[in-house]
Amino acid sequence: MKVISVVGARPQLVKLAPIAAAFAETDHQHVIVHTGQHYDADLSDVFFSGLGIPDPDVHLGIGSGSHGVQTGGVLTAMDPVLDAEQPDWVLVYGDTNSTLAGALSAVKMHFPVAHLEAGLRSFNRRMPEEHNRILTDHAADLLLAPTEEAMRHLSAEGLAGRSVLAGDVMVDVCLRIRDAVLAGEHPEPVLPEGIDPKAPYLLATLHRPDNTDDPKRLAAIVDSLANLPVPVALLAHPRLVVRAEEHGIKLNQGSLHSGRPLPYAGLVAAVLGSAGVVTDSGGLQKEAFLLDRVCTTIRPETEWVETIEGGWNQLVPNPHELGAADWAAIATRPAPAGERGTPYGDGRAAHRVVEFLEQHKR
Ligand code: UD1
Repeated sequence: MKVISVVGARPQLVKLAPIAAAFAETDHQHVIVHTGQHYDADLSDVFFSGLGIPDPDVHLGIGSGSHGVQTGGVLTAMDPVLDAEQPDWVLVYGDTNSTLAGALSAVKMHFPVAHLEAGLRSFNRRMPEEHNRILTDHAADLLLAPTEEAMRHLSAEGLAGRSVLAGDVMVDVCLRIRDAVLAGEHPEPVLPEGIDPKAPYLLATLHRPDNTDDPKRLAAIVDSLANLPVPVALLAHPRLVVRAEEHGIKLNQGSLHSGRPLPYAGLVAAVLGSAGVVTDSGGLQKEAFLLDRVCTTIRPETEWVETIEGGWNQLVPNPHELGAADWAAIATRPAPAGERGTPYGDGRAAHRVVEFLEQHKR
């Protein structure tokens, strides 16, 4: 069996790691196509080296651009790749522009498409990721759902016949790296200047267009973080840095200390070292949950509803609208007591994905 993985953005590289490792244990041919949507070393190269992913076989070099330019660029560049490779499956990941473009190019050329992390829904049509995942799910032949909730969404959209519950491959990689970090196999993470790793700190990320692109909203969120009573280590995504610069918003002020994004093991170590997480990232909400840290999510909704149960994750759409004391109380709340289930699976999802691809091959 020949499978082409199409990836392009940081969260997809994290999911690719366990899939590439699972394929490496088989005789199947696994071809990695990197669209180049993320091109900064911090968002791409360090994930290949740090997670032991083989170098991409093909690099499309798409880069930044409007949604149309990015999506169209991948579409155009994929035709000759698919033509040359003639894969049994095209495997697309998550919800980025690279996901949608990879799926669309494959269905148009009649190659079977499998969607990893199918069935997630925010029900927020303002998010580019929401269009990307809905369109990809409806185009794909095999929907690899990470959770029961995702299976329910797929069923509600008439897609149950093409859906299977695979579990979440992020558990595979997150727990493996957690164990390596705890065993001292990775260097200490480089936290932003001004953060003392031995004293309590919150770990923060912010990159969603809804939070970064409106200068008033971005300034208000940054202000609310700067006024928290504990140091906040902000791992600044390039989008955030660009927007903050454009609008003259300082990412280093008060409690807020900003630095570069971390490689995956560094991120896991930084979460483990933190008192809690504040983010608008989907992946980090779940990583906080898997690593037993409370998370506060600056969004009106989440796709990962399981993290909300029991109080591990709390949504705060507009932190600046809370009183300073209330905001601080939420962001620094203690971890809830009591047992939790394993809604994201057992850490063997990637092997299951390979098995499902074998079983459903045309
Ligand atoms: C993308 C995904 C999002 C994912 C996120 C993780 C889409 C629509 N969005 O958002 O689902 O959660 O990746 O990071 O696909 N930039 C750089 N260097 C890079 C990449 C981006 O400087 O390597 C800057 C550019 O100014 C670019 C901006 O970041 O215009 C946005 O990048 P883009 O790939 O459009 O979206 P992300 O915000 O990264």
